[in-house]
Amino acid sequence: MAASFRLAVVATCLLVLASACQGLQVGYYKDTCPSVEAIVRDEVKKFVYKDAGIGAGLIRMLFHDCFVQGCDGSVLLDPTPANPQPEKLSPPNFPSLRGFDVIDAAKAAVEAACPGKVSCADIIAFAARDAAYFLSAFRVKINMPAGRLDGRVSSSSDALNNLPPPFFNVNQLITSFADKGLSAEDMVVLSGAHTIGRSHCSSFVSDRLNTPSDMDAGFANFLRGRCPANPSPSNDPTVNQDIVTPNALDNQYFKNVLDRKVLFTSDAALMTSPTTAQMVKDNAFIPGLWDGKFNAAFVKMAGIGVKTGFQGEIRRNCRLVN
Ligand code: HEM
Repeated sequence: MAASFRLAVVATCLLVLASACQGLQVGYYKDTCPSVEAIVRDEVKKFVYKDAGIGAGLIRMLFHDCFVQGCDGSVLLDPTPANPQPEKLSPPNFPSLRGFDVIDAAKAAVEAACPGKVSCADIIAFAARDAAYFLSAFRVKINMPAGRLDGRVSSSSDALNNLPPPFFNVNQLITSFADKGLSAEDMVVLSGAHTIGRSHCSSFVSDRLNTPSDMDAGFANFLRGRCPANPSPSNDPTVNQDIVTPNALDNQYFKNVLDRKVLFTSDAALMTSPTTAQMVKDNAFIPGLWDGKFNAAFVKMAGIGVKTGFQGEIRRNCRLVN
């Protein structure tokens, strides 16, 4: 690793929570499992080339893992009699979060090559990074530090309390990211991930279509044609988030925000403060700006609340604590 890059990683980590990034290193598995990053990339490639949406799911999975108990694979834990309501079953994750099969496949392949060496939390971080690489047509190349351990705690209420909902206003969004050591700019830049993937109608119908909102009238009518007026668990279709380039990880999201063709109150909210509005414009119009900022903010997010030493373990099965 070049000395300058090592410095950049350390600097990024220092900016995040003091405990975050502790022990994280690019190339962490070079002695214990040198093939891990290639193995994960191959698995992600297979899934994403079949269904780009799975790549969107993996990128969102990293966000949902890291904001709840830190980046510790807690989102992967299945319900058990002792813990019937883990994060996975929380409303922000169920039924919308996808990509769990990719993590299972990657973990199985990694365990076959180097048993007991690689955490599930690191597999999520590598998989999300690789999804960004493939969906950006290889433009977003992230050196992902590793060395996270897997946590043993996963609770539905933690997910509800820590993940920002789509009806948040700009101050609520900024506070929610600040609580994790991320800046307002990180929040704006990372929201750019809404340039891929989908949303269930229930995430935006009530506050964006059934209530007067600033959404572009043509876009609102298009969505009314796709969504029931009152979505329910048995009738909750999905729509693409980015109507222009739905499967490309690019800066189109920021152009959509400016055109008022975005789904959530939280997306539109970026235009309601002068500083975040300026960031939206810069990311929309300055070529290449967003790619670099996304890269740095993604690594920063992937360092939130990392567990080391006795705080965690390397799970044998990502769905169960050892
Ligand atoms: C700023 C606060 C954020 C809010 C309020 C928010 C909210 C949401 C909601 C409600 C959905 C749709 C879920 C559904 O109904 O299916 C969604 C999808 C998505 N979000 Fe966010 N999100 C935020 C930030 C982020 C961040 C930081 C990332 C990653 C860097 C991210 C990546 C995604 C992706 C990729 C999808 C599509 C998932 C798929 O297609 O499976 N979001 N988000």
